[in-house]
Amino acid sequence: MTTNAKKAAGQDMTEVAFLLNGTPVRIAAEAPTRTLLDFLREDQSLCGTKEGCNEGDCGACTVMVTDAAGSRALNACILFLPQLHGKAVRTVEGISGPNGALHPVQTEMITHHGSQCGFCTPGFIVSMATAHLNGQTDHDTSLAGNLCRCTGYAPIIRAATAAEAAPIPDWIKTDAGILSAQISSGGEAAGRGGQTAPPFCPTNSDDFADWYLQHPDATLIAGATDIGLWVTKQLRDLGQIAFLNRIADLQHIERQGGQLHIGAGVTITQLRASIAPLHPSFAELLRRFASEQVRNAATIGGNIANGSPIGDAPPALIALGATLHLRQGDDLRSIPLENFFLDYRKQDRRPGEFVAGISIPESTPALRCYKLSKRFDQDISAVLGCFNITVENGTVTSARIAFGGMAGIPKRASAVEAAVLNQPWSLATIIKALPTFAQDFQPLSDMRASADYRLTAAQNLLIRYFHDRAGTATDVLQVQA
Ligand SMILES: Cc1cc2nc3c(=O)[nH]c(=O)nc-3n(C[C@H](O)[C@H](O)[C@H](O)COP(=O)(O)OP(=O)(O)OC[C@H]3O[C@@H](n4cnc5c(N)ncnc54)[C@H](O)[C@@H]3O)c2cc1C
Ligand code: FES
Ligand code: FES
Repeated sequence: MTTNAKKAAGQDMTEVAFLLNGTPVRIAAEAPTRTLLDFLREDQSLCGTKEGCNEGDCGACTVMVTDAAGSRALNACILFLPQLHGKAVRTVEGISGPNGALHPVQTEMITHHGSQCGFCTPGFIVSMATAHLNGQTDHDTSLAGNLCRCTGYAPIIRAATAAEAAPIPDWIKTDAGILSAQISSGGEAAGRGGQTAPPFCPTNSDDFADWYLQHPDATLIAGATDIGLWVTKQLRDLGQIAFLNRIADLQHIERQGGQLHIGAGVTITQLRASIAPLHPSFAELLRRFASEQVRNAATIGGNIANGSPIGDAPPALIALGATLHLRQGDDLRSIPLENFFLDYRKQDRRPGEFVAGISIPESTPALRCYKLSKRFDQDISAVLGCFNITVENGTVTSARIAFGGMAGIPKRASAVEAAVLNQPWSLATIIKALPTFAQDFQPLSDMRASADYRLTAAQNLLIRYFHDRAGTATDVLQVQA
């Protein structure tokens, strides 16, 4: 065993400690894929946290989680207990004050008639209280992950708006000051059967790289927004597990030499905030990536590594000319991102190799990303087109175009790129290039879209890009009838 491996062996997590509504709890980590939702409802009788979909879609199970990075809303149904170690959790029962005093968002929900059957209400209250704490006032965005099937959103948004100016209650502020050392002292340790191997929870990528080399068949869990469903829907046994959420050196975004280096553990929320001034169209695409709760957990590394043909980030990153950084033990290699995706769900990853990060240019003003899905918010792409075409003196001098939803992998439109390269930047060039889409893509028909729709929509997105670059309003939120 190498020195790193010996050190790493000490990072098996046998006990999970966190703060629950202000009270420390300790749980034996012997069932590492037990969800927070099950723990709250079955062991703690905190049944205000509801189970709706059990797959991250409805927000009925929303909880507030606080750590050194701040407070955020997360879905308890796809949150495994070891992910909470050293953090503070607030359920709907902890949103009102210890003396029963209502939080301002609760008061305003009553005043504005924001609840009918009430099933969704606890989740809304936690999302609203978290947004209130963080000073977020774009309620359409922060509540897009909470589904209400009977009240309708207008009264709920009115309640959230009315609560904006109210001071943050003292009891909500306290979690931020609690350190993990305090959390880990006290409370009852409670365990439950299930998977017996303690999960490996490294805090740095050197230890993780060494361990993974020796456990290449282990399941890596980052945000668990994909893997959560393997457990809750497919009832899969994940075998040996490593949780990556404590690896601090994979969570940085750094600027260097005109490039942004983004660690694999950076969440979609963090990425969106960082790139908003640099790549506004990519940031807007990420606003439509799942929901607030999912973006707060999901990592960029997980979005790339899962190799989904309909993942939102890869087409944008490929259009940007991203370089992917992979690590196997002490060996690092960097490849163009498009070369990582070999075939449907088959990636260029060696045993014991993991995604360490990605580099993109700091600024690419020509980039535009267009996501087509049945719902505007909280929906998976049917077609996603990302375009990055450089025009100099009226002529196309470089073209990177990538699509999701058009093939078994996120894929460059090489024939389309060739058809516009060195051509005048004009609608005539675009129209002439449209038939080449059929050389690049033979899309499938599925529940999201037919093959014909996909091909036609992809062609139309190139036309949209031309008009968008010319300054014409093309966004559905901008276009007026
Ligand atoms: C309700 C809901 C809505 C969603 N909507 C969208 C959407 O709109 N757009 C979209 O693109 N996705 C969407 N997703 C999918 C998911 O959120 C993303 O794919 C997310 O980026 C996965 O990241 P994660 O950190 O949660 O990965 P995890 O679930 O932890 O892992 C996913 C896969 O990546 C592997 N992995 C993770 N990190 C690494 C690493 N560093 N190196 C090697 N392998 C690694 C895991 O082993 C696993 O195979 C949605 C999911 C849910 C539940
Ligand atoms: S129960 Fe629907 S998001 Fe968790
Ligand atoms: S109040 Fe019934 S689902 Fe929202």
